[in-house]
Amino acid sequence: MKNKTSKIVILSGAGISAESGLGTFRDKGGLWDEYDINDVATPEAWEKDPELVLDFYNKRRSLVLEAKPNAAHYALVELENHYDVHIITQNIDDLHEKAGSNKIIHLHGEILKAQSVNDPDKQYVLNTSKIQLGDLAPDGHQLRPHVVWFGEAVPRLEDAEELIMNANVLIVIGTSLNVYPAANLIYACTDKCEKYIIDPNELSSVKFKNLIHIKGNATDKIPELVNELIHR
Ligand code: APR
Repeated sequence: MKNKTSKIVILSGAGISAESGLGTFRDKGGLWDEYDINDVATPEAWEKDPELVLDFYNKRRSLVLEAKPNAAHYALVELENHYDVHIITQNIDDLHEKAGSNKIIHLHGEILKAQSVNDPDKQYVLNTSKIQLGDLAPDGHQLRPHVVWFGEAVPRLEDAEELIMNANVLIVIGTSLNVYPAANLIYACTDKCEKYIIDPNELSSVKFKNLIHIKGNATDKIPELVNELIHR
């Protein structure tokens, strides 16, 4: 199967960035143990206390700016030299980009970009680590993080579905698949598609029944799987 036309699609979540020091959401001590989603990651939270929301993302943005890609991110870049690799990520960090991947769909937005509260379709690359109240977009409206909050539409879902429908291999990395519609993407691939999930934890046999579970950390198991795929 090894040739540049064979499509390998990656669906990554917070777990691929865990070993770069960026917290996951639902592991013990994760972000949702520390913060209530309804206080910091919904449109209602923004209406109620925009400064609390800005502060939550400002703190995470500073960590993202310091974070470095890990061996899992770099192994996926190596894979691009042998296959047509597309990355669909739920992560809002830029570690796939920093590692050198370039065919990336950010389903839940990008923390290093901002958007006007009045127009989600235009994004602005931030050249500071903070967005403050009073920072305005060119349209004169308040800037907010270019991040998809719970209850908001996932703009590039159709593009992601299209990619997975045509995938020869799907590799799911470091996601609990708890958030929809992203979690449904694993059902978009054909029966002929090889499906793997890399995660150190026990996974529910029902939700993940069609995925070959490679139990372990991303920085160990992704390089191993990439090596196997490259030497087919
Ligand atoms: N390597 C691989 N997987 C890991 C590692 C690691 N080193 N450490 C943790 N994991 C796994 C966990 O076992 C868990 O299954 O990563 C997964 C992280 O799951 P979540 O914390 O739920 O993160 P994620 O699935 O990306 O969340 C999806 O929820 O809060 C929203 O928008 C946010 O994009 C996020 C979405």
